[in-house]
Amino acid sequence: MSNNSIHTLIEEARSFSPSSKEELEQFRLRFLGKKGVLNDLFAKMKEVVPEERKSYGLMVNELKVAAEERINTFKEQFEQSEQSTDSGQDLTLPAYPMSSGTFHPLTIVRRQIINIFSRIGFNVSDGPEIEDDWHNFSALNFPPEHPARDMQDTFFINLEASPAHYKGPLALRTHTSSIQVRVMENQPPPIRTICPGRVYRNEAISARAHCFFHQVEGFYIDEKVSFADLKQTLLYFAQEMFGAETKIRLRPSYFPFTEPSAEMDISCTICKGKGCNICKYTGWVEILGCGMIDPAVLENCKIDAEKYSGFAFGMGIERITMLKYSIKDLRIFSENDVRFLDQFKGVR
Ligand code: PHE
Repeated sequence: MSNNSIHTLIEEARSFSPSSKEELEQFRLRFLGKKGVLNDLFAKMKEVVPEERKSYGLMVNELKVAAEERINTFKEQFEQSEQSTDSGQDLTLPAYPMSSGTFHPLTIVRRQIINIFSRIGFNVSDGPEIEDDWHNFSALNFPPEHPARDMQDTFFINLEASPAHYKGPLALRTHTSSIQVRVMENQPPPIRTICPGRVYRNEAISARAHCFFHQVEGFYIDEKVSFADLKQTLLYFAQEMFGAETKIRLRPSYFPFTEPSAEMDISCTICKGKGCNICKYTGWVEILGCGMIDPAVLENCKIDAEKYSGFAFGMGIERITMLKYSIKDLRIFSENDVRFLDQFKGVR
């Protein structure tokens, strides 16, 4: 073959631009395949006259380099575009913005409650969710036959015998007042603390009740703590939580561990007291239970009831949250529906 025709082949190879992988493969077979052009040219080397052999060899080599270069370039290009269509992504594009999570509305309100009380000197205490009879009931003055101990309200834990450091049969705590007992047993007055936590009651699940919910219990023990202190503390809380125009009213009630006891209503946050279906047209909604800690409870926890007095209050975080954000069904709090949770984006 003449040097001229090899030259034409080099030109052809250099300008080769396939539009598909198949075309590229045909090109490879034609030039570099077993029976391809290059093998053929190398075989013909011995027929070339010795003085032309060198330049012949150089040209064939040039053709080989040109063909290989094309093959490698396009192979890479086809592979890259295959990858990007495979994953449906162009990896050179900037990343999608990642949407941030939200705090659960119960977390938001719990943090607000803690914040409001911490501003007037309350710290936060914690206690176990699995509680013994003493801390959940007996120390709090629940008589042995009190209906709250009934199997219908309390999830008891069936154990042959409670572990040594527990006093009495175990149950899931039915209120966070159990933490009050633990704090009083371990700390001398003055005590000013709030106890947020999850509680459990054996109730049928509905829009207004669940078998678990969240409470914040608060209490203050010192010399000369009075009912007026309780009332002023709760008024401060209600106005910080629901707005300065909020009114409170206390109605007499009963709890085994407080005497006197009361339930506190706030002026309806929805209709501002005019009457709506949330407040059942009374203008008031109940938000918490409270009272002066019964001296017997103080004595149970080895606190001198002659010297000290205290108040306590307890509220459901769900209830506060429902009123604050006009949520009508309690079950939605535990459904993890992101359409619900997303509405609290940015709220802390
Ligand atoms: N522990 C009571 C309840 O769960 C609430 C409460 C707490 C009432 C403290 C008075 C004082 O219903």
